[in-house]
Amino acid sequence: MILPEHLDIRNGHLCISGHDTVALAAQYGTPLYVTDEDRIRWNYLRYYEALTSRYPDVHILYAAKANGNLAVLRTLASLGAGADVFSAGELHLALAAGMIPTSLLFNGSSKSPEDLALAVERGVPVSVDSLDELHQLDAAAEKAGKRAEIAFRVNPALEVPTHPKIATGLATSKFGIAHDRIPAAYHEALACEHIDPIGIHCHIGSQILSVEPFARACEVMVRIAAEITDMGVHLKFIDLGGGLGIPYHRSEDRAPTPSEYAEAVVPVFLQGTADAGITPSLWVEPGRSLVADSTLLLSRVNSVKKAHRTFVNVDAGFNLLIRPVMYDSYHEVIAANKADCNGTTLCTVAGPICETGDILASDRVLPDPVAGDVLALLDCGAYGFAMSSQYNSRPRCPEVMLKGSAAALMRRGETISDLTCTMQHLPWQEQ
Ligand code: LLP
Repeated sequence: MILPEHLDIRNGHLCISGHDTVALAAQYGTPLYVTDEDRIRWNYLRYYEALTSRYPDVHILYAAKANGNLAVLRTLASLGAGADVFSAGELHLALAAGMIPTSLLFNGSSKSPEDLALAVERGVPVSVDSLDELHQLDAAAEKAGKRAEIAFRVNPALEVPTHPKIATGLATSKFGIAHDRIPAAYHEALACEHIDPIGIHCHIGSQILSVEPFARACEVMVRIAAEITDMGVHLKFIDLGGGLGIPYHRSEDRAPTPSEYAEAVVPVFLQGTADAGITPSLWVEPGRSLVADSTLLLSRVNSVKKAHRTFVNVDAGFNLLIRPVMYDSYHEVIAANKADCNGTTLCTVAGPICETGDILASDRVLPDPVAGDVLALLDCGAYGFAMSSQYNSRPRCPEVMLKGSAAALMRRGETISDLTCTMQHLPWQEQ
């Protein structure tokens, strides 16, 4: 397997950014999420340079849903990133990390009245998903005595090669307004007294391993941009969303680089905006491609059971990493304490959750697994901890951030009292 630059093997142990993962597992306990801050910086700068070298007016909105830890958000904020926020919680976290309101976009197909009021109050632009929402936002702005800046979320009706659960731009998807109805939506927005339409937005899906769908989406977006410009909309930005995939199968997958992405998309953007006679900012919303490969999930082997297959029973399950169960996702597994040993045994890596489906990895050849081994699951920085739960009443594990030779907790592990602290004693039940 080809390891990414920040991982290597020293004295038989897997290391991340020079830190021995076996030592980290001993120090902080397992399960443990370990994130390399420098890798996030590197990923961000690669993106930024790829785009700005082709078009100077670029704004990267990190998709905060991928990994909402404040330390991650602060890292990206310090580099100039804004954020795609999909909830009031993400909005608050992005602001707490130092991002400014106008660098955010409040996305979502089902925003509550409170969400809309919050966006208006904080001056965060909103990606509007329906005409109903448009009028509610107009009313919220009127009530607050403010104006609301908006983009419409375009449903471009594009098939994309990815898992059906994460393809978002299909004609049948719940997201956005059909592309042929978008001009009418801007017409309606222009008639709203408290709404300023300043952008246009789409997001076609996630974990896309070819650049061609992004170029097609961009074509749709610049075509609509030209049409609504003619109607009198002054577009400050065109937001193409996120979705660039990463090579989870490290020996087989080939993911486009940010440079290849930019090479495919920016010329379409340049041509379309020139034809429309506009110079909007180019916005993108990467999540996975900024943070996924920065993070390992370390898990210790509790027991090995030879049955109809060899089960390697570890202490992390779908409570901490749901992607394999939810999307049949593949994460590379490395025996961190035997990283230079050859594989001997075909294994199924199973979690501790009381469900048959709690399998983190199937049919992996690992070096003679025994209780006490530390397994590292790669590429867990996006939609890993972010989608974790306390299912089976398991406290969530800690998260450690590394920077150079430093390591520190960016989230402490939960305890049993964290399981009960929000529960209330009912007045009719005895203490
Ligand atoms: N923008 C919007 C509006 C989104 O909905 C998303 C992701 C992104 C940007 C970022 O997409 P990315 O660059 O990360 O692909 N839980 C799934 C992925 C769900 C993605 C949801 N939306 C997974 O684990 O694969």
